[in-house]
Amino acid sequence: MAESHTWWKEAVIYQIYPRSFMDANGDGIGDLKGITQRIPYLSKLGIDVVWISPVYASPNDDNGYDISDYRAIMKDFGTMADFDELLKVAHAAGIKIVMDLVVNHTSDEHAWFIESRSSRTNPKRDYYIWRDGKDGGAPNNWESCFSGPAWQYDEATDQYYLHLFSKKQPDLNWENPKVRDDVYDLMTFWCDKGIDGFRMDVISMISKDQRFPDGPMKDDGYGDFSPYCISGPHVHEFLQEMNARVLSKYDLLTVGEAAGVTIDEAKKYARADGKELGMVFEFEHVDGGNGRGSVIEKWTTGKPKLANVRAILNKWQTELEGCAWNSLYWDNHDQPRCVSMFGSAAPEYRERSAKMLATCLHMMKGTPYIYQGEELGMTNTHFTSIDDCRDLEEKNAWQQFVIDQKRVSPETMLACFDNMARDNARTPMQWDASVNAGFTTGTPWIAVNSNYRDINAANEVDDPASVFNYYKKLIDLRHTHDIIVYGTFRPLLEDDPHVYAYARELDGKRLLVACNWTKDEVPCTLFDDVQGTELISNYPENAHKKSALQPYEARVVLL
Ligand code: GLC
Ligand code: CA
Repeated sequence: MAESHTWWKEAVIYQIYPRSFMDANGDGIGDLKGITQRIPYLSKLGIDVVWISPVYASPNDDNGYDISDYRAIMKDFGTMADFDELLKVAHAAGIKIVMDLVVNHTSDEHAWFIESRSSRTNPKRDYYIWRDGKDGGAPNNWESCFSGPAWQYDEATDQYYLHLFSKKQPDLNWENPKVRDDVYDLMTFWCDKGIDGFRMDVISMISKDQRFPDGPMKDDGYGDFSPYCISGPHVHEFLQEMNARVLSKYDLLTVGEAAGVTIDEAKKYARADGKELGMVFEFEHVDGGNGRGSVIEKWTTGKPKLANVRAILNKWQTELEGCAWNSLYWDNHDQPRCVSMFGSAAPEYRERSAKMLATCLHMMKGTPYIYQGEELGMTNTHFTSIDDCRDLEEKNAWQQFVIDQKRVSPETMLACFDNMARDNARTPMQWDASVNAGFTTGTPWIAVNSNYRDINAANEVDDPASVFNYYKKLIDLRHTHDIIVYGTFRPLLEDDPHVYAYARELDGKRLLVACNWTKDEVPCTLFDDVQGTELISNYPENAHKKSALQPYEARVVLL
């Protein structure tokens, strides 16, 4: 079936985590003015759209994913005037701006929650999910995503409220039509400012099974809420209503963050007729099912296995063909750095493997997302103690698994953090070799990765062989070759132990892509007898070997 053409299918998105991108005023925290200063850098890279992690007023329990006022800018990040200026400068440079929309929950310091908790009869009581306790404890056994129970007892009214994330992130009650009206109003407020889309935080969790049953027991002693909260009973009704009331009135990019989403559900969220969202972020290829194993819950020192990652991504590619659109990503602010997780951060392989991974992803069908610093091949950092950590997920896991339950030694947990912690992605952007990597003239809120003198934008921007310029070329290719955007995806060599290969096809043309996921030279005859044009490779064109791919080699040939 021919794919309908839209701008957001043809675009490459760049994600900014504002806290760590660029600090313009020297307080150690990235800000809106800093982003505006760096628009020329983004223009040079050639991306089309910036998605900015939340910049709204927030007490920062979860770095802005706990919002206390949806119509105000976080003080650390600047003012509404700074935002308007950023939007203007970005638009003038031809860059669109996508906002993060966090409406599964608010901050407990949002005015709605302050009213809601004040009494059982307050008109805002039903804006959140309040229940009586059971048998002297919480209403059910659900565990929050950040360790510990998903229910918090509130003495003032002798009831519990639900928080799937931290206790400072109470879940909104989407069953209440007034909540939905208010959400649509605040979305309209931002659309009328002229923004170009929304990335919707944990949008797959807004509808909860109203019976609130216990979940299956996990190995840490709590119950799993997923069967009752992920793609819950009314989620598609709510999104269709949101679409009719807001989204359909503008020309927006919409992407739903959808942990736990199945292919069948994704076909509904990202349905081709556009009645819900444009696309979703699936999680399978970054979750435990990718073969990395587990020490406890998400924590592990293991690495994903090619066979698992390939099977997962190939399945998403082929099954959404013609009925829904894919998003493509290796990392973001919640994931470790992709070169460390899927490639190799060792100095001899870092650049090659970063380029290989970029090729593997950017030649697939879907809209690619680049997370700040990925285009430089930034790596995971090293945690020497819990004091290096800033993320509440790490702090809570430390408390639960190391201190309270004593199930994991401090050394093991730190090794797991080096591999998996979200803070790996949140160390400051590495701009140059000056102190604090040019991110701030003050003290950065989280330590800069010690490798910034070698890995930084100033080194890379003018070096034609850099990771940066490789990403730039991949972006250019997507902009010039329809087949990269709209061609159908066909898996190749599905049982090869080392090589991820596939073809794209459009109007009688064929694109061959092969990526060696290992540090060894491996056999591959895919290119032996083909006549075509090499579009990109991380090895010079005259350095390829017959019937083989060299360490982390990636090749793309158009036939
Ligand atoms: C999403 C965000 C993550 C945040 C969580 C709660 O997963 O990406 O950073 O902690 O939702 O809002
Ligand atoms: Ca600042």
